[in-house]
Amino acid sequence: DKEEDLIERPAVVTIMGHVDHGKTTLLDSIRDTKVTEGEAGGITQHIGAYQIVENNKRITFLDTPGHAAFTSMRSRGAQVTDIAILVVAADDGVMPQTVEAINHAKAAEVPIIIAVNKIDKEGANPDRVMQELSEHGLIPEDWGGDTIFVQLSAIKKEGIDDLLEMILLVSEVEELKANPNRNATGTVIEAELDKGRGSVATLLVQNGTLNVGDSIVVGNTFGRVRAMVNDLGRRVKTAGPSTPVEITGLSGVPEAGDPFMVFEDERKARQIGEARQQKHIVEKRNDKVKVSLDDLFE
Ligand code: GTP
Ligand code: NA
Ligand code: MG
Repeated sequence: DKEEDLIERPAVVTIMGHVDHGKTTLLDSIRDTKVTEGEAGGITQHIGAYQIVENNKRITFLDTPGHAAFTSMRSRGAQVTDIAILVVAADDGVMPQTVEAINHAKAAEVPIIIAVNKIDKEGANPDRVMQELSEHGLIPEDWGGDTIFVQLSAIKKEGIDDLLEMILLVSEVEELKANPNRNATGTVIEAELDKGRGSVATLLVQNGTLNVGDSIVVGNTFGRVRAMVNDLGRRVKTAGPSTPVEITGLSGVPEAGDPFMVFEDERKARQIGEARQQKHIVEKRNDKVKVSLDDLFE
């Protein structure tokens, strides 16, 4: 891509942390406080990711469990996350899955923001969390390190704005860019077979713009994008970089972590799609299914 075609894109954020430390509550609180603003009657979440607007900037949150997103997707060669939020309950401290999450984020070289959660609880001890995380190399800025810590109560919706501000700050430092003026590429977030609609896949567009009618190869499936639905459940015709969108029109059901790519030429997409389907059957027989974006170019 030419330098001048690259524009700022929203950060894609994953929330990780030990069981019951408040990942789901935090995702819900962010969505409740931001997405429902201005949405008549509120919304029920439609797909496994959502976007919010904070200070005129968008942030994309992946709703897939953070660990699964990292382990299954990274094992398939996909990297969808720009920033990891590590939730640590202030009354519980660093636990085994906290350490796992740190290791995943470090291996993926993704910046980590610490959300010290449940500060409303009796027995909350944010200092202890800072101490314990320091032992894992995550040293707070206050202590001379470079790790951002935000204290919050997901359940009381306190500290949410601080967290969002820090996400925007890190996004800026990361200089996240994409070119909206090219054929879309990205990754499957989740997919299923729907009784009425057939194959339904949630895609994260990572570069380019996806359009209804595009000829697309998705993992070992292919087709034309018949319809697209955004995170608010609304029909849309286009989806730009860092946008999650649900599509129909594929020949089969791809897997989370599969790459997708749009082709100018429908015949080309069909050719590649069918070849990949064949290859997939053979590889499956040989018990070694692996897909990467490069494979699409074969
Ligand atoms: P898993 O998905 O099972 O790993 O859990 P989780 O990390 O998604 O945690 P979840 O959001 O389900 O929260 C676990 C429990 O902690 C629930 O009972 C929440 O209501 C509670 N909880 C979450 N955030 C807070 C908080 O800020 N303060 C208090 N007091 N409780 C909280
Ligand atoms: Na839970
Ligand atoms: Mg949860």
